[in-house]
Amino acid sequence: MKVLFIGDVVGGPGRRGLAAAMPGLRERHSPDLTIVNGENSAGGMGITEKTARALFDAGCDVITTGNHVYRHREAYAFLDRAERVIRPANYPHANPGKGHVVVEAGGMRVGVINLSGAIGLQVARLPFHEVDSILERIEADAVVVDFHAEVSSEKVAIGWHLDGRVAAIFGTHTHVPTADARVLPGGTAHISDVGMTGSRTSVLGVKPAQVVEGMKTQMPVKFETAEEDVWVMGAVVEINSAGLADSIEPIMVPAPAP
Ligand SMILES: [Fe+2]
Ligand SMILES: [Fe+2]
Repeated sequence: MKVLFIGDVVGGPGRRGLAAAMPGLRERHSPDLTIVNGENSAGGMGITEKTARALFDAGCDVITTGNHVYRHREAYAFLDRAERVIRPANYPHANPGKGHVVVEAGGMRVGVINLSGAIGLQVARLPFHEVDSILERIEADAVVVDFHAEVSSEKVAIGWHLDGRVAAIFGTHTHVPTADARVLPGGTAHISDVGMTGSRTSVLGVKPAQVVEGMKTQMPVKFETAEEDVWVMGAVVEINSAGLADSIEPIMVPAPAP
């Protein structure tokens, strides 16, 4: 069973790039389940029902998110009712949306858990305890995790914490891919960050001059989503019948012209 995971899709350029790249990715990797992080899919920050629909239309099965999930107030009701859109599980329980979902794929019940790191990000509970509690009650043959976190130490640590207990952990949030994809000794595929789906002529998806201006002047600057040279980044994991990983392969491909 193969899972294709795609990193943070940034704005319209990211959505269109993903849609253009999906036929090729499907042909090359034949995924049974495609998971996409959509926290930046609406104008570079947040998600709406419309941008979620565009990701599903592109071939995505489950959407994960992160710290920007609540940017658009009109999406709250959608997050509550959408079955296959999740937000970090360790946010306050009363917040809109839910933190995990179980879907059928490749003849397995696959649990998808979204978690946020606690270092440099706001959470209600530590990700380590939260994921332990979900794993105690989830009814799934294999579990994959989107760990949306800032700091590499915490991202690597969650890998060791979960090694042998989940099939894969895909790091997101920094938008910069890391070169550490591997299957840990217990059989859990891990990558600290898969990167993003958006313009590489950017700073994390934003027009470079605007970010540089903001950093140089330390004054507020209006950020716009960069459009040139869109790449799709993610990873493919092969999951065996024991619910663990046989392999992980990072993905980094230029989006074909639509
Ligand atoms: Fe992001
Ligand atoms: Fe984020």
